[in-house]
Amino acid sequence: MSIIRDSFHSRIGFVLAAAGSAIGLGNIWGFPTQAANNGGGAFVFVYLMVTVLLALPALYAEMYIGNQAQKNPVSALEDACEGVSRNVGKYAGLFGLLGAILMLSFYSIVAGWMLSHALSPLAQLSGFDSVATWLGESSDLRNLIFTPIFIILSALVIKKGVHAGIERWSSRLMPILFLLLVALIIYILQQPGASEGIEMYLVPDFSQLKDPNLIIAAMGQAFFSLSIGVGGMMVYGSYMKKGEGLGKLVVSITALDTLIAILAGLLIIPTLFVAQHMGQEVFTNGQLIGGPQLIFSVLPTLFESMGTVGVYIALMFFSLMSMAALTSTISATEVPVSYLLESKGYSRGKATLLVSIIVLAACMTLVFNFDTLFDAVISWVNTFQLPIMGLFYFIVVGWIWKRGNLLKDKAVIDAKPSLKLWGNYLRFVCPLLLTVVFVNTVMAM
Ligand code: PFF
Repeated sequence: MSIIRDSFHSRIGFVLAAAGSAIGLGNIWGFPTQAANNGGGAFVFVYLMVTVLLALPALYAEMYIGNQAQKNPVSALEDACEGVSRNVGKYAGLFGLLGAILMLSFYSIVAGWMLSHALSPLAQLSGFDSVATWLGESSDLRNLIFTPIFIILSALVIKKGVHAGIERWSSRLMPILFLLLVALIIYILQQPGASEGIEMYLVPDFSQLKDPNLIIAAMGQAFFSLSIGVGGMMVYGSYMKKGEGLGKLVVSITALDTLIAILAGLLIIPTLFVAQHMGQEVFTNGQLIGGPQLIFSVLPTLFESMGTVGVYIALMFFSLMSMAALTSTISATEVPVSYLLESKGYSRGKATLLVSIIVLAACMTLVFNFDTLFDAVISWVNTFQLPIMGLFYFIVVGWIWKRGNLLKDKAVIDAKPSLKLWGNYLRFVCPLLLTVVFVNTVMAM
C-alpha cells in the first residue's frame, strides 16, 4: 500500500520553511558575537568564503539526497548507500537523527528562556511586576515550565503536518521576523554609541586572519547556521517536488540565512555599544561579552534603562528570538517524526508525542546536569556531529550513490556539462577541504 506523502505546496513555501530552519538563534546570537570576537569584518569575510565554498555545497548535498529519495533521512541514506551497504546508510541516518535530538536538547532550553523573556515585558505592561521579574531571572522552575512549553509549541506545528503545519507557520513567522529585525535595527542605530559598534563590526581587523581558529569558528558557525548535518534539511528536501532547480533554491536559502546573520550583526553589536555608552561593562578581558550574559543580562539591563520604549523593544527582541527558534526546532523535530511515520508505521500524532517525550527527557537531563552537560553537548554537536555528517554527505553524493544520482548519470551530464564540474567539486574538493578544517579543529582542542 502506498500512502501519499505530505509535501510543501509551493516553492516559496519550501524556501521559507528551509530558511526558517536555517535562521535561528545561531544567526541572531551566534553570528554577531563570533564576529565581534574574531576580528569583526575579517570574520564576516571568512564566514562568507566558507559559506560559499563549503557550507552551501554541503546544504546542496543534504537536500539533494532527500529530494531524490522522497523519503525520511534514514531511508534516504539507506537507498543512497545501496551500492555499498544499506546498513551504512541506515546507521548514518540514525546518527543524524540522534544529532537532531541532541540539538533539540539544548536548543529547546534556550528557546524556553527566549519565550519567558518575551512574556516578561507583557507581564510588566499588564502590571504584574513580580511575575515580570521572575520571568526575566533564570531558575530551575522556569526551565521546568518553559522548556516543555516550547516543546509543545513545536509539537503543535509538527502534528499538523508538512503543508498545514510547517509550511503555513514558516510562511507566517518569517516575514514578521524580518520586519521586527529591521525595525529594531533602525531604532538602535539612532541611539548614542551605536556608530562605534558598526565600526567594530564592519571594519575588518585582518591581522586576525592568520589565526587558524578563525576558519574553524567560521565553519562551525556556517554549518550550524545552515542546519547541516542532522537531517533537518534532508527531510525538507524530501517534501519538495523532485528535481526542478534544487540548486537555485539552495542558493536562495543560503542567501536569506546569510543576509539575516549579517543584519543581526548590525543589531547586536551596535546594541552592545549603546549599552556601553549607558555605562554597562560589555568587555571581559578585551573580548566582547558573548554567551548567555549578553542576551540575558546586558540586553535586558539596557532595555530597562530605556524606560517604556525599552519594554516594547524587549518584547520585540525576544519575540523575534522565539520565532526564530521555533522555525528551527520544528525542522529538527520533523527528522525523527518522519522516520517513525514512514519506517515504523506510527501515525503523525503518535510519532510527534513520542519524539516530544524523548526530547523533553533529553532536555531535563541537561537541566539537572547543567554544568557538566550543557556546554559539552553544544560543543559535541558543533565540533563533531555537523562536520562528520557533512563529510558523509559529500562522500555519499560523490562516491557511494550511483542509481538515481543525476550527477553520475552520463546522459544528464552530457546534456549539461556544468553539472560535471559541480559533481567533481562535490566529489574531490569539498571532502578534502572539510577534512583539512576538521583535522585542524581536532588538533586545536
Ligand atoms: N540553523 C539553526 C540556527 O542557526 O539557529 C540551528 C539548527 C536548526 C540546526 C535546525 C539544525 C537543525 F536541524
